[in-house]
Amino acid sequence: MRILGIETSCDETGIAVYDSEKGLLANELFSQIKLHQQYGGVVPELASREHIKWTNPLLESALQNSNTPLDDIDLIAYTAGPGLKGCLLVGTTFARSLAYSLDKPSLSVNHIEAHLLAPMMEAPELRFPFLGLLISGGHTMMVHAKEIGNYELLGTTLDDAVGEAFDKTAKLMGLPYPGGPEIESLAKKGIVGKFDFPRPLKNKKNCDFSFSGLKTHILQTWNKAEQTDQIKADIALELQHTVVDCLQSRLQNAIEQTKATSVVVSGGVTANQFIRTSLEDFGSKAGLAIYYPSKNFCTDNGAMIAYAGYLKYAANQLCDLEGEVRARWPLSET
Ligand code: KG4
Ligand code: ZN
Repeated sequence: MRILGIETSCDETGIAVYDSEKGLLANELFSQIKLHQQYGGVVPELASREHIKWTNPLLESALQNSNTPLDDIDLIAYTAGPGLKGCLLVGTTFARSLAYSLDKPSLSVNHIEAHLLAPMMEAPELRFPFLGLLISGGHTMMVHAKEIGNYELLGTTLDDAVGEAFDKTAKLMGLPYPGGPEIESLAKKGIVGKFDFPRPLKNKKNCDFSFSGLKTHILQTWNKAEQTDQIKADIALELQHTVVDCLQSRLQNAIEQTKATSVVVSGGVTANQFIRTSLEDFGSKAGLAIYYPSKNFCTDNGAMIAYAGYLKYAANQLCDLEGEVRARWPLSET
């Protein structure tokens, strides 16, 4: 069967075609980063308008590149939450209208569930149960994924998401949005040990996260510092070290709690090579198999929505919220 996947939850319009036999056939993406950069963050109303502009052309190129006549689409999967309401409404309306006109089924996909399942697209050996560590700009959570549609939330952030720690640190040092890639490239020139940031929730034996205290600490450090390019790089490097320590300690607690042997790490922050390599080292010492999506599936995309839609359909989990969108949509309710 052929599944069309539609993602419009934030600042990326993604449309993809996935074939249950042949795999991913097309994955079209338009990123709005340049538009939002001038405002230092995503402006919801502008994001919605861009989605309206891009859904149709991306659909056309996805169909063309996958050699799929519209009538050959068997299922339309779309992100119904969590995300920005106006943005979600664009994708939802587009997907449901298309499904209606083609007389094909449509299916609501939870964006977080799609991030967690994305690595399975490239690693068919990955099996449930596994631990899911989602690290993005909007979400930070540790999940025990038991089977499709059965997720236990082990911990989440008490304040900021990991991506926000990167974005806010970058912003205060005068770097453009999104901060993650900027911090990563700056950190390459950083000197180890120049700073020593506190590790949030270090001694707490749970899987929660907290990054707002770290943000305040970095702000104070920056205000007191000389504010040179070298200091920026040193702060960037220490931020990466702090994040890695924090993710590892949360993972350690989750492993003790669940005895899991596989971990899926997903979400935009997974694009960071330093974090990937550090967690891989941690995994090999702890006897864990660590799975990442490849970099183009780390940040938001339509492929993960099409793929999650296929898995949900195959598992007979045919949720369609029928036009309702959920700015918040807990995984336990999928
Ligand atoms: O998953 P995503 O595309 O969107 C959300 O659902 O949030 O994640 C975006 C986040 C941003 O905070 C961005 O700064 C971060 O991922 N990010 C990175 C890197 N690339 C993107 N963080 C650290 N290092 C990177 N290379
Ligand atoms: Zn995302």
